[in-house]
Amino acid sequence: MQSFELLSRKFALHFEKNHFPEEPASLYRPNDYFLGLGGKRVRPVLCLMGNELFDEIREDAWELATAVELFHNFTLIHDDIMDQAPLRRGMQTVHEKYGQNTALLAGDVMLVKAYEYLNRISKDFLPQILGLFNQTAREVCEGQQWDMDFEKREAVSLDEYLRMIELKTSVLLAASLKMGAVLGGSGERNQDLLYAFGRKLGIAFQVQDDYLDAFGDPQKFGKQVGGDILANKKTFLLIHALETAKADQLAELKNLLAGNDEGKVEKVLQIFRESKVDQWALELKNKYLDEALQHLEDIAVVSRRKEPLKELALFLVQRDY
Ligand code: IPE
Ligand code: IPE
Ligand code: MG
Ligand code: MG
Ligand code: MG
Repeated sequence: MQSFELLSRKFALHFEKNHFPEEPASLYRPNDYFLGLGGKRVRPVLCLMGNELFDEIREDAWELATAVELFHNFTLIHDDIMDQAPLRRGMQTVHEKYGQNTALLAGDVMLVKAYEYLNRISKDFLPQILGLFNQTAREVCEGQQWDMDFEKREAVSLDEYLRMIELKTSVLLAASLKMGAVLGGSGERNQDLLYAFGRKLGIAFQVQDDYLDAFGDPQKFGKQVGGDILANKKTFLLIHALETAKADQLAELKNLLAGNDEGKVEKVLQIFRESKVDQWALELKNKYLDEALQHLEDIAVVSRRKEPLKELALFLVQRDY
């Protein structure tokens, strides 16, 4: 069994090649630029770990992992347009550097490339994996649309938020694991447990992402801190603050949300702090992490084989980037 560190290093080497042709350079160099910025490569590693949980890593699991990482990068390029994000992985976003139209098309062609890699996996497993890949891609779109719709809504419940992040984020982590397991010849029950593990873990992962968006160290985080506040994203931080703030804080918060004052980010952060959002973040993350680990526990393979997944799960909810 290989650790997250080792597998991500191996995947980085495997992934480090030209995925795109020379021309038109104005389309493909932006994609090279973006892929060159790196990232944690969590999803392909989940895919490889899902595979290795049941057997030695198969050749075509690397193709699947590549497809998954390309798909993820496509979602990020488009997400940064939707979120008007200037920074990603510590560098300029694609639309900032090359313009919005190029970023749209660069994302589109990256999605197509993902399917080209997917098409290289064993034909025995392709129909099932393609079905799950497509379902996941559709759900990510749904989650992204809810995310944007919620920006304009005054009230969003915690349940609505959780459903939204499950769609935009968790399902891809869950599917990465499950697709790896399918290729590994896993039985259906183990596949489902692994999917359930990924779904709960993905929620904790997005909770941490939303926490870092507000309180991360800009040097480490690599994205614009406070971006969610500027966009009026209905993260658990805002939902919690709206639910627990006292009358005067609540009025101020609503006022801040209605406009784009100078100092909005700092003022909202102050209200977040006063609503003891740190404690709440920890509770939420631990709840979903514990549920995730319970599903992992239930998978019918010797516990030694699950160690890398456990280690990765802990890293994902504690990460600072
Ligand atoms: C960012 O994902 C998008 C979310 C779902 C929060 P990652 O945090 O995995 O991004 P990279 O690939 O490591 O940059
Ligand atoms: C993004 O959620 C989820 C997808 C890209 C599908 P966020 O908008 O929170 O991700 P970041 O923070 O920009 O990475
Ligand atoms: Mg974003
Ligand atoms: Mg977004
Ligand atoms: Mg975010």
